[in-house]
Amino acid sequence: MLTDTSVVILAAGQGTRMKSRMPKVLHRAGGKSLVRHSIDAALEIAPPERVFVVVGYQADRVRVETEAAGVHSVEQTEQLGTGHAVMCGEEQLAKYGGRLIVSVGDCPLIRSSTLEALAETHRTNGAAAAVITTEVPDSSGYGRIVRDAAGNVSEIVEHKACTPEQLPIREINSGIFCFDADLFWKHVHEIRPDNPAREYYLTDMVSILIRAGHRVVAMKVADHSELLGINNRVELAAADCIIRQRKVHQLLLDGVTIEKPETVTIDSQVTIGIDTIVGPFAQILGNSVIGENCCIGACSIVDNSVLGDDVEVFPFTMIAASTLETKAHAGPYARIRMGAHLAESAHVGNFVEVKKSRIGAGAKSMHLAYLGDSTIGAKVNIGAGTITCNYDGHKKHPTIIGDGSFIGSNSTLVAPVEVEGNAYVAAGSVITQRVPSGALAVGRSRQVNKEGWRRRFAPKA
Ligand code: UD1
Ligand code: CA
Repeated sequence: MLTDTSVVILAAGQGTRMKSRMPKVLHRAGGKSLVRHSIDAALEIAPPERVFVVVGYQADRVRVETEAAGVHSVEQTEQLGTGHAVMCGEEQLAKYGGRLIVSVGDCPLIRSSTLEALAETHRTNGAAAAVITTEVPDSSGYGRIVRDAAGNVSEIVEHKACTPEQLPIREINSGIFCFDADLFWKHVHEIRPDNPAREYYLTDMVSILIRAGHRVVAMKVADHSELLGINNRVELAAADCIIRQRKVHQLLLDGVTIEKPETVTIDSQVTIGIDTIVGPFAQILGNSVIGENCCIGACSIVDNSVLGDDVEVFPFTMIAASTLETKAHAGPYARIRMGAHLAESAHVGNFVEVKKSRIGAGAKSMHLAYLGDSTIGAKVNIGAGTITCNYDGHKKHPTIIGDGSFIGSNSTLVAPVEVEGNAYVAAGSVITQRVPSGALAVGRSRQVNKEGWRRRFAPKA
């Protein structure tokens, strides 16, 4: 942690090339918004009270994200350029000395270790500014790093302002700088919008500081993919892919088995315990937490859910916003959602939907059922085809089933209704009233056999 460092993340632009109604920095890569990636990297190196995000286009929406991350925001009401964006934070930021790192909200692959190395380069060179650069195969659209005869950085020239000699330069500006904070605030007002775009370019600080007799250095990184700036959805897809590859790589190193790793989709915030096996095409999303020694079957989707240890999710199962305790089983082809809770060793099998229900320890519902708004006790057995009729067209109603009860196949439980503990419900029953503890409820008409029916009904057949 660099305690004498502030980070300002520029995120006020619209991102027109995204062709979106949403600000560019709220698009997601690896399950996390672009700006959140920048914030998280900043929080690894600087104290939260010194991390600022410049918001502008749809400021309120972006601010929701900065507040969730626990960092400050600064508003840039008119997008007059990257230099102007930093100036908007003067009131809040200039009181801090030390280092000022300027980062961007559309560069989600940057590692905190690279930001740290930038600060170190800045310090060891006694420079007024250090900038991250890299060589790219195609530098079009980027600011070019112009060096003097001795190889020192002399200026950064935006693509549109390049001379024919500067255009082929392949070393580009990442947009990420580390400044001496006091020198930055002393000289920032020297930036002039004297360029074809009439913008205040942050990149002009390079020549301004050099003119004032200070040193500016470049930290050139070899892996240019880390500096991929997202301007359109092609680049967004590429960044998403790299973030997910990094995630899978880390999980494999951390003791998770991932079969066909190139097919799975795992969001960056997910955590998974050792010896868990993730099958092909599985998706583990949001803030999901998976315990140790679990199985996430092929093509299953686990979204924002918590799984204890030794949980088995069989293939083609969807689990959203739910909790499965240790040794619970789900699927294949189960759907568990909206705050469902499976207690220890509860089993939910194929074509069973569980919504907003608690399934007690060791309870089983193995085939073809709908359990909604229900509380199901320990060791209950729910027969195939059981349905809780939780909705009357206006309201949702609860179903309660006590410990140890047995619900026969194809039962219809019309809520609100309670089956007390250790009771039985005969197969095919429609239950509309309370079933007392230990009782058998038969809610169907008796079978009638009409002897000789065939002979009387169709005598010639
Ligand atoms: C910028 C750099 C360019 C560099 C490239 C790297 C400048 C002048 N140019 O160009 O040298 O090679 O990044 O990707 O700095 N923003 C604001 N307010 C504004 C303008 C922009 O907050 O008024 C934010 C944007 O939301 C974005 C970031 O600054 O997150 C960069 O802006 P963008 O317009 O993408 O700059 P580039 O043209 O890519
Ligand atoms: Ca950009």
